[in-house]
Amino acid sequence: MTLYTVTSEIYTENKNSSVKLKNGTAISSFIFKCPSYMIKPDFTNNIITHDSDDDIDIDRQTEGKLIIEHRVSTNLQHVGLQVWRGALLLADYILSNPDLFKDKIVLELGAGVGLTSIVASFLAKEIICTDVDLEGILKLIHRNFLRNSAYIKSKVSIKELNFLNLTWPTFYEKRINEATIILAADVIYDENITEGFVQTLKKLLTSEIQKVVYIALEKRYVFTTVNMDTTAPMYEEFLKCIEAQKENWHIEYIKIDFPRYFKYDRLKQMVLMKIQNKLSE
Ligand SMILES: C[S@@+](CC[C@H](N)C(=O)[O-])C[C@H]1O[C@@H](n2cnc3c(N)ncnc32)[C@H](O)[C@@H]1O
Repeated sequence: MTLYTVTSEIYTENKNSSVKLKNGTAISSFIFKCPSYMIKPDFTNNIITHDSDDDIDIDRQTEGKLIIEHRVSTNLQHVGLQVWRGALLLADYILSNPDLFKDKIVLELGAGVGLTSIVASFLAKEIICTDVDLEGILKLIHRNFLRNSAYIKSKVSIKELNFLNLTWPTFYEKRINEATIILAADVIYDENITEGFVQTLKKLLTSEIQKVVYIALEKRYVFTTVNMDTTAPMYEEFLKCIEAQKENWHIEYIKIDFPRYFKYDRLKQMVLMKIQNKLSE
């Protein structure tokens, strides 16, 4: 069987900020503009100089830096070991809207290397960062949280949550049901995983508590001979799955014109969706 390998465009674009280690692993710096509420000497590359009166003069460069360990390329099964554009779009949205995340219990699904959760943990009360535990991904997330501890302000737990196995121990289910904000970036790329993801949302949104899900994705276009056209089949599959939940969910699209803090191409085929459960009157 041929195992195709893929490399995220984010690595290609950010290559100059990466140091390659052995075993196909790299450590990359993700520089971002610090929003004003984040500016504190220990979070930024502030340079302290002295002015002509010898007073301290802080040149606020207002740049932050996340240090992220990830793989350079993987097969499709292990794409979570890389950083994808959706993670940065969602991180930008969080930094642009601190009040939506401040002091909240946040659950991230399919968190990959943990970048979005790390950003959210600057604001949230608690982060439950989850993924399917393949190829040591949960340990990798843990290492990335440790590397970026200066930004972590919330309680953090890193747990397995597999979209294809929704039998959760009671105590675990109780914990994740406390989350009122759910994040997911770039988890729409495979039919089975997409269906499992929507089933997971169905379970999480069957609640008397108001929940808000933010989903960042990139419509990935392919040419199919069946349609003799370019389509985004996984995105369409996802729309079909969520359409079936319209009675129970409010679905809206968020305009992606909010400030850009991280460096990446914000492509027009990127989508940010907000889904909320409709509460019974
Ligand atoms: C393209 S990666 C995106 C990772 C990260 N959110 C990002 O944007 O950089 C897709 C993510 O979905 C996760 N995933 C795949 N199958 C899954 C499953 N059955 N249950 C939960 N997560 C899954 C992968 O491990 C991976 O982290």
